[in-house]
Amino acid sequence: MEKQLEEIRTEFEHELAQTGSPQELEELKVRYLGRKGVLTSILRQMSSLSAEDRPRIGALSNALKTFIDEQISARCKQIEQTGEGGIDITLPGRVPRQGTVHILNQVLTEIEEIFTQLGFAVASGPEVEDDYHNFEALNIPAHHPARDMQATFYFTDDILLRTHTSPVQIRVMESKGLPVRIIAPGKVYRCDADVSHSPMFHQVEGLWVEEGITFAHLKGVLYEFIHTLFGPDLPLRFRPSFFQFTEPSAEVDMGCIFCKGEGCRVCKQSGWLEILGCGMVDPAVYRYVGIDPETVTGFAFGVGVERVAMLKYGINDIREFFENDLRFLRQFSGR
Ligand code: DAH
Repeated sequence: MEKQLEEIRTEFEHELAQTGSPQELEELKVRYLGRKGVLTSILRQMSSLSAEDRPRIGALSNALKTFIDEQISARCKQIEQTGEGGIDITLPGRVPRQGTVHILNQVLTEIEEIFTQLGFAVASGPEVEDDYHNFEALNIPAHHPARDMQATFYFTDDILLRTHTSPVQIRVMESKGLPVRIIAPGKVYRCDADVSHSPMFHQVEGLWVEEGITFAHLKGVLYEFIHTLFGPDLPLRFRPSFFQFTEPSAEVDMGCIFCKGEGCRVCKQSGWLEILGCGMVDPAVYRYVGIDPETVTGFAFGVGVERVAMLKYGINDIREFFENDLRFLRQFSGR
């Protein structure tokens, strides 16, 4: 019996060396120490031993049992540490997902860079505005129908979510004095929602007020802006329009970038895409901020950031920007 135990030990050591996975080790353990295992069946034969052999063989079997147990644990640790046994340590690790700058922020940054290079400073104002800055001082008096065009979210009769970035014009002229050459990017809010309107969207306001500023300056700046964003040869069209706070006013169209002016679904067969509103600052506005309209002239413009991004990247539903579907957002990574 002693010899038998010795053989079991040798056989076990041999088999242990062949194991390569935690699963194989488990099987080995069952084969030797399990209820129907090799060692267990030996121990069952103990009763047939003489009273003087029994303690000695008992001790030897117990020692072997402990030995097998310890060896299996040690081998298990070894497999885990070296990565043997089914774990391919040459596989690349899990790469952390890298976020990207949201497409709207990318476009905003691009717009800011263009105007910064033209000498504009970046200004900002509050999104929760008062009636005076959002309407009154922009020459839009109470009960004027122009207010209805901008479905306003009101908190009280006097406090509201700004419907455009134009109130920043007022705030900058009130606080900074002249000359002023700023853009004001930011969020604006209107009670409106469909494929081309979102209750929150972004605008960039522009304002340049200084002695001697003419409509030619306005055209020069906007040509530079649109050509840098969309391509240098694009035709522009200044179409007479009306805004309360500018006179004269214009809406600017650019040649349709999708059909090159031929006429398509996006430009509704006109060959032109409307891109922004602008004009020469109305003298009435200067009076609200305490500037003598006889001493300076200036221009202003307002452009929708979503609109620019939609045209630039051929996006046809404004809601895509705010749904945060990663399949949409990832298309604009790495720009
Ligand atoms: N505030 C106008 C709007 O949201 C856009 C605008 C038009 C801004 C003409 C201007 C401007 O500064 O001159 O509809």
